[in-house]
Order: sequence, then C-alpha cells, then structure tokens
Amino acid sequence: MRDITIVRLNTDSDHVATVASWTYAEWGHLNPAYTAETWREAFRRECGDGGVPSVFVAMQGDRPVGTAALMAEDMASRRDLTPWLASVFVLPEWRGQGIAARLIRRVEEEAAACGIDQFYLYTHDQQGLYRRLGWCDHEILNYRGEEVTIMLRRLEA
Ligand SMILES: CC(C)(COP(=O)(O)OP(=O)(O)OC[C@H]1O[C@@H](n2cnc3c(N)ncnc32)[C@H](O)[C@@H]1OP(=O)(O)O)[C@@H](O)C(=O)NCCC(=O)NCCS
Repeated sequence: MRDITIVRLNTDSDHVATVASWTYAEWGHLNPAYTAETWREAFRRECGDGGVPSVFVAMQGDRPVGTAALMAEDMASRRDLTPWLASVFVLPEWRGQGIAARLIRRVEEEAAACGIDQFYLYTHDQQGLYRRLGWCDHEILNYRGEEVTIMLRRLEA
C-alpha cells in the first residue's frame, strides 16, 4: 500500500467537504431530508475531537482516499444500540488494498481507548469483510426497504 496514513478528521479541516461529498453520494439518497449542504454540516459535527463521535481518514500524501467514523447513532430504529462504526468508504481506485481494514482497526482502537467494550455496525452486503476482521452477526432486519445485518464487535477492556 503506497504510503497511506490514517489520521483524525478535524471539524475545521479543508477535507471535511470532500469526505462529506463521498458519503452524501453513497448514502444521501437514504436520508432525503438532507441537502448536500445540511449533510456536510451534520458530518462536520460528527468529527468531534476524540472518543464518540470521531471521524478518521486514510491519506495518501495530502489527499484523502477513504474514511470511517465512530458515532453514537447510526440506525434510527435501533437507538438502544450504541455506539456504531459508520461511514466506511474508500475511493474506488484505492479499494482491495486493505485501506478499509486499517480504517476499521483505527476506529476500534478509538472505541477501546475510551472504555467501550462492544460496538455495532450495519451492512447489507459487506458482512464477509467485517467477519474477517472479527465482527459477529448480531441481528438481521429490514431497514429502509433493505435487508441488513447488524454486526457486533467485542473489544478488549
Ligand atoms: C467496502 C469498502 C469500504 C472496502 O474498502 P477496501 O479498502 O477495498 O477494503 P479492504 O481492502 O480492507 O478489503 C477489501 C478486500 O480486499 C482484500 N485485501 C485486503 N488487503 C489487500 C491487499 N493488500 N491486496 C489485495 N487485496 C487486499 C480483502 O481481503 C478484502 O477482500 P474481499 O473483497 O473478498 O472482501 C469499499 O468497497 C467501499 O467504499 N464500498 C462502498 C461503500 C460501502 O459499501 N461501505 C461499507 C458500508 S457497510
């Protein structure tokens, strides 16, 4: 992998707009109440400054190529579960090199460092990726018209 580093995305970073545009293009249609602008400002608020919420980016030099986040909420119908690994995304030309795996590990480290012993994600088609990284299937349910799996990751205390 060519010199990829994983860094925290700060609220005031110039990269917030770029990374928010990726996640809006990927998932914005599932949240029709948002415009690109309100999505970007909500994403900016999720950046936080440590713990929950946090956003991380994979950087190739000064160019962001992927992202993953630790958030308090990610599924409107399951607010009983918290926190969540969310917004896992790698630019198409950078896929298949382990960048998502590194981003996910970074989010896991962040969660463990603030005393979280388990957290969640949901996915409709990436169960295999997460199972290989130690995540377990927790529940299958229909969410926004799609069958998804909630997965659970237990962390060392
Ligand atoms: C899902 C997604 C984040 C994966 O990103 P990625 O950086 O390609 O993921 P990784 O490289 O860590 O792992 C992907 C595959 O590459 C393989 N891989 C890992 N390191 C590798 C390496 N050094 N060389 C070649 N392949 C490698 C992994 O085994 C994995 O295999 P799989 O395709 O059978 O699952 C990316 O495809 C994406 O952004 N998709 C659109 C958004 C999305 O679906 N997000 C997930 C929401 S739950």
